[in-house]
Amino acid sequence: MDFSIKTIDAKTSIASLKAGCIAVGIYENKKLSPQAQALDKSGEITAALKSGDISGKPGSTLLLRKVAGVAAERVLLIGLGADGELNDKVTSMAALCVARVLATLGGADALLALPFDAVKERDLAWAIRSSILVLRDNSYRSDTLKSKKETTSGIKKVAFLVAAAKAAVAKDALAQGVALANGIDLTKELGNLPGNVCTPTYLANTAKKLAKEFKLSVEVLDRKQLEALKMGSFLSVARGGGEAPKFIILKHLGGKAKDAPTVLVGKGITFDTGGISLKGGAGMDEMKYDMCGAGSVLGTIRAIAELKLKLNVIGVIPATENMPSGTATKPGDIVTSMSGQTIEVLNTDAEGRLVLCDALTYVERFKPAAVVDIATLTGACVTSLGHHNSGLFTRHDSAHDALANELLSAGKATGDTAWRMPIEDSYQEQLKSNFADMANIGGPAGGSITAACFLERYTKKYTWAHLDIAGTAWKSGAAKGATGRPVALLTTFLMNRAAAAK
Ligand code: BES
Ligand code: MN
Ligand code: ZN
Repeated sequence: MDFSIKTIDAKTSIASLKAGCIAVGIYENKKLSPQAQALDKSGEITAALKSGDISGKPGSTLLLRKVAGVAAERVLLIGLGADGELNDKVTSMAALCVARVLATLGGADALLALPFDAVKERDLAWAIRSSILVLRDNSYRSDTLKSKKETTSGIKKVAFLVAAAKAAVAKDALAQGVALANGIDLTKELGNLPGNVCTPTYLANTAKKLAKEFKLSVEVLDRKQLEALKMGSFLSVARGGGEAPKFIILKHLGGKAKDAPTVLVGKGITFDTGGISLKGGAGMDEMKYDMCGAGSVLGTIRAIAELKLKLNVIGVIPATENMPSGTATKPGDIVTSMSGQTIEVLNTDAEGRLVLCDALTYVERFKPAAVVDIATLTGACVTSLGHHNSGLFTRHDSAHDALANELLSAGKATGDTAWRMPIEDSYQEQLKSNFADMANIGGPAGGSITAACFLERYTKKYTWAHLDIAGTAWKSGAAKGATGRPVALLTTFLMNRAAAAK
C-alpha cells in the first residue's frame, strides 16, 4: 500500500481534486464535515443524508458515484458520530471503513479528506500515523507459508488531504507511520512463523539481514561463546532442544558516540514445550509465539533504523527452544547464572526468566541509560490484565517511576497500552530456595509479579523496566495470530527519547 500527502490551499476547492474515491466525514443528525460541505454544491450529499441511507453513526458508510460538480469518481461518506465527539476509536474505525468499502472496488486510489484536526486530545500527525497503522494492519496477511496467496484487491494508494501549511508535519507523520507499520509487520511475521522455521538461527539471520539493509552492527554468539561467558542459566534451557541457541546483539547507533544507549532485551523462546515440566497438549502450538519479545525488539529496531532515529539503541536477544529430552534440565537442577547467583530450577516451564537473567547481566557492559526487557513471560499476566494491557514492572524509586511513565505514556499515545504492576520485597520472599540463591518459581500467587521479582535481582546496576506481553502479543481463536505489540509502544518511547535528547 502506497501512502502520500496531498496538500490543498484556500484557493483550491476539494471538489476539483481527482481521485478514484474521496472519503469525507459526516456526523449524526445529518450534519456535514467542512470537507463534505465543500463537495455538496449540488445538494446530493445532503439529499443522501435526508434519505436515511446513512446514519452518521461511527462505522456507517455510503458510497456515491459521479456526484455532480465533484471531480473524484466516487465520494465515500463516512459516519463520525456526533459532531465534536471525534475520538481515537472513531478515527481508527473511519480508516478501517475506507479499507473495507474500497476492498470490493478493485484498484481504487483513495483521497482521505477527513477532519483529522478535530480529533479530541490528538493532532493531525497522530491521525495520519494511526490511520496508516489501521490500514496496514487490515491488509496484513499471514500467507507466507500458504502455497496460494490471497490476492488483495482494492485500495492500493492512499493520500491524506491536508492544508498546505501542515505539509511538513504531515510528511513526517507519514514516514513515521510507514516505518512503524513495517516494524509491526516484521514482528507479526516472525511471531506467526512456526517453530520449525523461525528457529534461533532464523532470528539471528533476520537480525543480520536488518543489519545489512540499514547498516547496523550485529553480533551473534553461539554455544561455545555463551559457555565462555558463563551463561549457565540461559544454556540450561538450551540443553533439551536440537536447535542451536543464539545470542543476538543488534546495534542502532544513531546518537552521539558518548551517549549511553537504551537497551531492549527480548525473550526469544522459539518454541516453549515447557521442557521436562511439559505443558498440556491443548493449544500448545501457540507457544511458537514465545519469541514475540525478540520479534518486537527486531521490529522496533527496524522501525527506528528506517527513521534514522538519532538515538543509541541496542537490541539483545537470547534465543533458544525449550524442549524435553534425555539431556534436558530436570526439576531440582541447580544452575549458576552469569551473575554468579545460583538458581534452583523447580519448574523447567519457567524458562523465560532463565534466559533473560543472563541477558540482563550481559547488558551491564553497555552502561545503559535504561534497559527494557520484553517477554511473553507468564500466563499469570494474562489472568491479571487480560489481552488489553501489557504488564509493566519496575522498581519504585524516582528514576524508575520516570521510566515507567515514559513507557506508559508512549503506550497511551499509540493505543498500545501497558498497566503498571508492583515489585516489592514481600513478593521476593516467595522465591526462597532451601538449596540455591533463589528458586525459579514463586508459587501460583502473583505469578507475573514473582517472575518480575526474579528478573529484578539481575538488574541492580541500571534503570530497568520489564514488559510482560503474554496477553497482548498475540490473539487466539478465529483471528489467531501475532499482533505486532508492543512495537508501537517501544518505537514511540524511543522517538520521545530522541526528541528529548535534542
Ligand atoms: N511462555 C510461557 C508464558 C505464557 C503462558 C505465555 C501462556 C502466554 C500464554 C512461560 O514460559 C511459562 O510457561 N510460564 C509459566 C510459569 C510457571 C511455570 C511459573 C506459566 O505462566 O504457566
Ligand atoms: Mn514456559
Ligand atoms: Zn515461555
